[in-house]
Amino acid sequence: MRKYLKFWKLGQAELNTQSFDSSRDGELVVREGNYQYNLNNLAHKFGTPLEVAFPFIVEQRLGGLFEIFNRTMKAARYRGKFFYHYPMKASQNKEFVLPILSEGGNLEVTSANELWLVKRMWEQEQFSSRIRVICNGPKTNQYLALIAELRDKGLQITPIIEDKFELAALSTFKGDVGIRLDPEVKVHGRWDKKVNRFGLTAQEIFSFGRIRNLKLLHYHTSKQLEYQEDITAPLKRAMKVYVKLRQSNPNLDMIDLGGGMPVPFEKRPLFSTEGVVKRIVRIVQKTCDQAGIPHPDILVEWGSYLVAPAQVTIYRALSEKPIKGAMAKQWYIIDGSFMNDLKDTWAIHQKWHMVPVNRLNSKKLVRTWLAGLSCDSDDRYTAGGKYVLLPPLDTLEPGEQQYLAVFDTGAYQDALASHHCLLSSPMKIVIQNGVITVARKRETAEEVGREFGW
Ligand SMILES: Cc1ncc(COP(=O)(O)O)c(C=O)c1O
Repeated sequence: MRKYLKFWKLGQAELNTQSFDSSRDGELVVREGNYQYNLNNLAHKFGTPLEVAFPFIVEQRLGGLFEIFNRTMKAARYRGKFFYHYPMKASQNKEFVLPILSEGGNLEVTSANELWLVKRMWEQEQFSSRIRVICNGPKTNQYLALIAELRDKGLQITPIIEDKFELAALSTFKGDVGIRLDPEVKVHGRWDKKVNRFGLTAQEIFSFGRIRNLKLLHYHTSKQLEYQEDITAPLKRAMKVYVKLRQSNPNLDMIDLGGGMPVPFEKRPLFSTEGVVKRIVRIVQKTCDQAGIPHPDILVEWGSYLVAPAQVTIYRALSEKPIKGAMAKQWYIIDGSFMNDLKDTWAIHQKWHMVPVNRLNSKKLVRTWLAGLSCDSDDRYTAGGKYVLLPPLDTLEPGEQQYLAVFDTGAYQDALASHHCLLSSPMKIVIQNGVITVARKRETAEEVGREFGW
C-alpha cells in the first residue's frame, strides 16, 4: 500500500473510506465497482465549491445493515423482524431518499413538509404500498391533517405521541400509534442536555393507562453516540418500560431505537456495527424471554450512519496567509463557507476529515487552518484548536490549483445551509453507475438575491 494512502486514511473499511483511493499522480479517486471517478478532474470540470454525492455508498451501507441485522436475528432465533426507517431530516435530497426506498428502507419524517414529499411520492406511485412511515416531531394541525389523509389513502403511517396534547389529538386516529419515551439515561452525545424536552417519562406514559391502538415504543437519545453503552443502556431501560406497557397494551409489538449510530468523522475506528447489533438483539430477546412475551420487531432510525459517508464537499484554496503564535502556520482561504455550507462546523464544532484532492503524494505539508469566504471571524476551521496538514500553495506548478475534500458531509449540512454574505451554495453533482448528473446548479447572484426580495 502506498504510504500516503495510509496517512490520508483512504481505503479503510472501518473508517468508511474503502471507496476512496489515489491515482498514480496523487489525485483523489472514488471507486464504484470497476468504475473510477477522479475528483480532481471533476473539480476542474464543474468548478468549486462542489458537493459530490454517491448514492451507491448509501445503497452499500443499507444493504450491509440489513444483512447484519437479518443474519444476527436468524442466528439468535429471534422471532421479530428488522425494519430500517430513514430519518429524512438527515438529507431530504431525492438522490439519497429514492435509493434507500429501492433498497427496502422505510421512512421517518419530522414535519408536515417532509410528509408532503411522502404524499407526492405516494400519489405518483413511486413506492410500494408496503412502505411504512413514522411521524415524529410536534404535530401541528396541518401535520395531523396530512397524517389522517395519508392513512385514509392506505399508507401504513404511525404517528408518535410526544406529549399529552398529542395523545388527545390522536385519540380518534384510526390507525396504529406509537409513543415516545424519554429513557432518562445519561449518554455521551451531542444532545446530552441537562434538561430534555423530548418524549414522556415512563411515569407519564403509565399514567395514561391503555393507549388506543398503541403499536410502537420509540425513543431517541442523541446523535453521534460514540460508546456502545450509550446505545445499550437506554435500550435496557426502554425494554423495561416496554414489558410493563405491554400488560395494558397487548398490540404493542415494535421497539424503535431512534438514531444516533455514530460516524467516524475523525477517522478513528469506532465500535463495530456487528457488535452493537448483536447486543441490541440479545437485550431485546432476553428481556422478552424473561417476561414471557413475544419478541417485538426492532426498528432503527440511523440517519448520519447511512448518508454522512456518501458525500464529500470540495473547495479550492484561493490563497494562503501566514499565522503567527498559533498551532497552525498558515491559513488557507477557501472559495466557500464553513458557516454556510457546513453549518455543523460552527454550530456543534464538528470535526471533519480533510484530504487534498490533488498532490496527495506531496512530501511537504504545512499545519493549516482554513478560513471561509464570509466576513465572519467564526467562518473557519481549526480542527478544534489543532490543525490540518495540507500542501503549501507556493509549491504549486504555474496554473495548478489546490483542491481539498471534506469527507462525510452527506448528513444534515444541506438542510442547515444558509446565505451569510449572500454567498451561493455549492453546486451539487451525483455520481452513480458511471453517470454524472448535476443535481443543483451553482446559484447566480440573481437567484440568491431573489430569496431576499430583490
Ligand atoms: C427522532 C430522531 N430519529 C432519528 C434521528 C437521526 O439521528 P442520527 O442522524 O444521529 O442517526 C434524529 C436526529 O435528530 C431524531 O431526532
